[in-house]
Amino acid sequence: MSTRTGEGSLLAQARASHTGTDNKALYKEWAANYNADLPADVYIAPTLTAKEALKFDSSATGSILDAGCGTGLVAEVLARGGAKSIDGLDLSPAMLTEAGKTGVYQKLFLGDLTRPVDIADERYDIVTCAGTFTHGHVGPSPALREFVRIVKTDSGIVVATIIDSIWESGGFKQEIEAMEAEGLVKVVSADIIDYVQARGDHAVLIVLEKLSPAARGDHKMQSSPAVLPTGQQLLSVRA
Ligand SMILES: C[S@@+](CC[C@H](N)C(=O)[O-])C[C@H]1O[C@@H](n2cnc3c(N)ncnc32)[C@H](O)[C@@H]1O
Repeated sequence: MSTRTGEGSLLAQARASHTGTDNKALYKEWAANYNADLPADVYIAPTLTAKEALKFDSSATGSILDAGCGTGLVAEVLARGGAKSIDGLDLSPAMLTEAGKTGVYQKLFLGDLTRPVDIADERYDIVTCAGTFTHGHVGPSPALREFVRIVKTDSGIVVATIIDSIWESGGFKQEIEAMEAEGLVKVVSADIIDYVQARGDHAVLIVLEKLSPAARGDHKMQSSPAVLPTGQQLLSVRA
């Protein structure tokens, strides 16, 4: 039987999506019903992503880019937590239209995270990205390095979910380890979280802090790379 999150659902189709063209068509069809299909108590990744980001925006003055913003589920939680300066980027015009209805974004714009994005270096304090590092959507490169490029040196934070089934096979773990070894980022945390609860899905919720060139030298000398989750640790859920 087809359910809102089960086999045959648009969520299942999203998992089977392979190209940007597939994704645009899928989200055009899904945009109007996306929030109803994925209520916050079922799809909890946006809430967990936003709450993690808010920990780094205690004065609520930070500028935030919500990358792969969809209909705005992350930004609505950010705004309820006091965030005032939120922009949203997405591949899908239909999802951006829905995001606009939330009234919480300062600016919404089209962008493709499988390519370098047209955003100045160090433009934002925080980048959030929930639900977009998943099957057939966006891979680790160049997106993760682009996120780091566009956040501020020394204090810039990237908070992102990566669905567990592609964490290692999709090269995310390796890319983050490489960025850490280069001294580009510090891995603040990498927790396994519930994702779409009705399906029993999990994701890695990663928090990266951008390091300054000076700190990079220190980091290389003083610290050893963080131990990132492997498949064996996926039972240790922290929701
Ligand atoms: C599962 S939705 C997540 C949306 C929102 N962040 C949330 O958590 O509800 C995935 C989003 O990624 C967007 N997306 C897919 N491929 C993309 C790409 N190459 N660049 C930017 N956004 C993309 C889709 O349009 C869709 O809005």
